[in-house]
Amino acid sequence: MLPYQTLICINKNCSQPIYLQIVSEFIRQIQDGIVKSGTKLPGSRKLAELLGVHRKTVVTAMEELYAQGWVELIPYKGTYIAGCLPKVKAKQWSEQAVNLTMPKEAGFEFTPTKLIQIPTILNQRLSLNDGYPDVRLAPVEEMATAYARNLRRYAGSNVLSYGNLFGQEYLRSVLSEEFNKTRGLRSTADNFLITRGSQMAIYLTINALIHKGDKVIVGETNYHVANRCLQMVGAKILHIPVDKDGLVVEEMEALCTTHSIKAVYVTSHHHHPTTVTLKPERRIQLLALAEKYRFMIIEDDYDYEFHYGNCPVLPLASADRHGLVVYIGSFSKLTAPAFRLGYVIAPQNVIRELVKLRRVIDLQGDAVLELAFAEMMEAGIIRRYLKKALKQYRIRRNVFCELLQKKLPNVVSFNKPQGGMAIWANFSEKVSLVELAKIAPKYDIFIGDGLIHNPPNQNLNSTRLGFASLNEAEIEEAITLLEKVIRENF
Ligand SMILES: Cc1ncc(COP(=O)(O)O)c(C=O)c1O
Repeated sequence: MLPYQTLICINKNCSQPIYLQIVSEFIRQIQDGIVKSGTKLPGSRKLAELLGVHRKTVVTAMEELYAQGWVELIPYKGTYIAGCLPKVKAKQWSEQAVNLTMPKEAGFEFTPTKLIQIPTILNQRLSLNDGYPDVRLAPVEEMATAYARNLRRYAGSNVLSYGNLFGQEYLRSVLSEEFNKTRGLRSTADNFLITRGSQMAIYLTINALIHKGDKVIVGETNYHVANRCLQMVGAKILHIPVDKDGLVVEEMEALCTTHSIKAVYVTSHHHHPTTVTLKPERRIQLLALAEKYRFMIIEDDYDYEFHYGNCPVLPLASADRHGLVVYIGSFSKLTAPAFRLGYVIAPQNVIRELVKLRRVIDLQGDAVLELAFAEMMEAGIIRRYLKKALKQYRIRRNVFCELLQKKLPNVVSFNKPQGGMAIWANFSEKVSLVELAKIAPKYDIFIGDGLIHNPPNQNLNSTRLGFASLNEAEIEEAITLLEKVIRENF
């Protein structure tokens, strides 16, 4: 008999149910060729004794393995590893090691400069990230209840099948009504496309509407992923400066008279990365230029909800009378980035173009999530949650800015942001952000080096410091640690 007690590893502290651990361990051993087809397994009582688990756990595991076709139950004889499994030869470690030359041999050609870097997953407990929400505040219980209710309600119905490429009609109607009331839009459900986050919305808009050689104006500096997206379609990017009031629209007309401009991409509410708000006069000016020179405005309003002043500035889209604005938004910051929900609001013919493109990369969104979210919005749960989160984030922003000023007055300069989830911090010359970002993890804290945000070759020493995902005590700890890293190393 095989030594099942050592082959099948169980971790009783792991959150995965034990019967599922037994299932995956058996599958692994079968695939590795250790437990072979036709092998008779010990009876459930014996196996339970060997593995140190309850007999019922083993029975449930065997039922699952049977349901998946890995074992056969032969009446009066016992349980056997199934006979017709694909043959998988047990391999030595060396054979399994990654063969670095493989992509070339196989004919793949990677062009790393064209694509964006994959960001490292942040493991540090204290992270001064790019401006993430605090997922500990997210309305998870309400979401779980609404999701489960909708899943049960629509079990066996068309909602769970292939369906609407535009997104659930119910969500589009709820959003349209809400945004018409609160953001001054005049939309209908047909002006909406629900996406999996605003990043997808940006990708679809740029790929469907911007073509090779098209000239697109962005701020210097700009949301780096949007820049990459534009580069990938072969657009020619023209920059205009960004000051404390957002894009310097006054400098745009000169470009419009010398170039045929296809689009302007703008993060109007809180400019990414510098966090400033595009002031109302410039919004009006930008719309007037769009109308005069017939270019479209891609308005990425990804964090509209998070404004800490009296009230947010209405989107450019609310004043657009000519259908020139493609308005993009997201619920990633409002709930949690893991719930992939974003949207595009635009004239219907634009939405239809985006949907044609969506069809080749994603046949639809998560219908149940969309329905659950719409229900939560209608019931006022999202609004209540937003009020609670805003209050927290406002306090955190204040604490963060005060502490930063107090502890690092000669090192970091910044303007207190009116909204968003990060500050734009300029570090003094004597503290190289690139070095600081390398050293900080040794002190169990994360800080970005800012390189992706700053124009290349300009040696700017600035980065975004997220304040929203840490509570007040954590903010104090993080800034104390940051001060320590700087004091001990620079
Ligand atoms: C300016 C901007 N736009 C869009 C996004 C995409 O966010 P999501 O796809 O989660 O909605 C981000 C992410 O932080 C962002 O900073």
